[in-house]
Amino acid sequence: MIKPIIAPSILAADFANLEKEVKMLNASEADWIHIDIMDGVFVPNLSFGLPVTEAIRKHAAKPLDVHLMIVQPEKYVEAFHRAGAEVISVHVEACPHLHRNIQQIKSLGIKAGVAVNPHTSVTELENIIGDIDLVCLMSVNPGFGGQKFIENTYQKVRQLKELIKLKGSKALIEIDGGVNQNNASPLLEAGADVLVAGNFVFSASDPAVVIKQLKALAR
Ligand code: DX5
Ligand code: ZN
Repeated sequence: MIKPIIAPSILAADFANLEKEVKMLNASEADWIHIDIMDGVFVPNLSFGLPVTEAIRKHAAKPLDVHLMIVQPEKYVEAFHRAGAEVISVHVEACPHLHRNIQQIKSLGIKAGVAVNPHTSVTELENIIGDIDLVCLMSVNPGFGGQKFIENTYQKVRQLKELIKLKGSKALIEIDGGVNQNNASPLLEAGADVLVAGNFVFSASDPAVVIKQLKALAR
C-alpha cells in the first residue's frame, strides 16, 4: 500500500491570515506546501513572489514545493532556494534549455521537477525523465486556482508511468489542478504519487479533515 504525498496549494489560502493557514497545514497530515509563482507572462495572472514565500517559510514545518510558472526561471531559482524551496519545478514550455535548468536546481541539492501543460505530450520528457525527481502534470491550464479538472489527464498519467518505468527513472508524478474527491482515487490508481489541492482543501469547513481523507487514499 503506497500512500500519496499531499501538497495543499497555498494559492487558495486566506492571504490575510497566512501564518494561521500555514500553522493549520503544519498540524495536518499534509506532506508538502505547494507554492504557485506566476509572472503574468508565461501565465495570464500574477500570484506572489519571494517575500511571501519567505514569510510562509518562517512558519512552515513542511517542505515548500515551488511551482514556477514563469519565463527565464534560471534568474530566480537560487533566490527561491534561499527562500526555502525544497522542490522546484520549471515548465518545459518555458525552458528552451531545460537540461541546464534542471542541472541548476540539482546543483543546489534540492529536488528538480518539470511541469507540463495539458496540451504538452509526456513524450517531450523522454530525454530528461532520467534526470528529474518529479513531473508536475498540469490537469488544468496553469494560471488560476479553482478550475475544472481535465479528464485527459488520466491517460497522460498512465503514459508517463510507462515512460518512467522504461527509462528506470525515480521521478514522482504530481497532479496539479482541480483535484477533488471524485478524481483523487482514480488518479492514484493510474499511477500518481503527489496530489496538489487548492480549493478542494481550503474551501472546506475543516481543511485538515479533507487533507486526512486524501492522505488515507492509497494504491
Ligand atoms: C494552477 C496552479 C495550481 C492551483 C491548484 O495554475 O498551479 O497549483 O493552485 O488549485 P486548485 O486545486 O484549486 O485547482
Ligand atoms: Zn501549481
